Amino acid sequence: MTPTGAHAWIPKEMDTAARAVPIAQEAGALIRGYFERGVATEYKGDVDLVTEADRASEKLITERLSAEFPSHGIYGEEGVRQRIESEYRWYVDPLDGTTNFAHGFPVFCVSLGLEHRPGGQAGELVAGVIYDPTRDELFIAQKGLGAWVNGRRIHASKTKRLAEALLTTGFPSRKRHVSPNIHFYQEFTLRSHGVRRAGSAALDLAYTASGRVDGFWEFHLNPWDTAAGALLVMEAGGRITRFDGTPFRLDSSEVLASNGLLHEEMVALFSDMLAGRELHPIPSPAEYAAQRAAQPR
Ligand code: IPD
Ligand code: CA
Ligand code: CA
Repeated sequence: MTPTGAHAWIPKEMDTAARAVPIAQEAGALIRGYFERGVATEYKGDVDLVTEADRASEKLITERLSAEFPSHGIYGEEGVRQRIESEYRWYVDPLDGTTNFAHGFPVFCVSLGLEHRPGGQAGELVAGVIYDPTRDELFIAQKGLGAWVNGRRIHASKTKRLAEALLTTGFPSRKRHVSPNIHFYQEFTLRSHGVRRAGSAALDLAYTASGRVDGFWEFHLNPWDTAAGALLVMEAGGRITRFDGTPFRLDSSEVLASNGLLHEEMVALFSDMLAGRELHPIPSPAEYAAQRAAQPR
């Protein structure tokens, strides 16, 4: 099924990604319905939440993807593993932002990312769709064809310095007691315009791709969180790596995405912090203003 009407703006060449759009939208409408009615929350682990909406969305997506792409594999957060030896594999986050969702905080989405796996080996990302049903925003990317949101081509931002950047991050629910991220959160917060923690890694990546934020990092993510968003960032002219600047892989677990211009500065801060080196002092507001005034515009 290819999108018509409201989504006639999707470039025709984006044939594969476009076929996943109605699926992401149907799942988005489903979870929005649960959100409006209210839904009971359960614990999936010690602090990790899950709801009926997560499971119903994954079931619907699995049925629709299987019908639309019968030879493709599916790897879903809530446990679906189908045809995973296939040459193509969809990574499905049926509801990214469950903690927000469960508390009535309206920031969550559906994320579908497609990996080409020649010979059954980890390959490259080829298509990605993220649908935010609360804003009715559809992010779409296909390898080599750019990234778009609701009819508009998107590009990573042009911010050149960390000191003038807006960033995002997230914190894992599993192993949160051993996560070092609070230290990175503090340093990046004091060295930038601020760090948002909106609660959906897929949207964090989509916002990096669309220039709404300049960079994003997180420890301990899974392929269903990052597959679609990573392709969006790359197709929007941004950069995504591990914390040391080496290539990002779906099984990397650590993710550093940026507009590209800030990347080295962010990698350098990670490198210094991970090595326990003394950091440059945080400038006072007056020093900050003087540095800003001295920058070429
Ligand atoms: C979570 C969100 C959150 C991130 C967590 C993820 P979920 O996904 O993306 O922003 O900080 O690490 O687990 O559980 O809501 O699908
Ligand atoms: Ca997720
Ligand atoms: Ca999820």
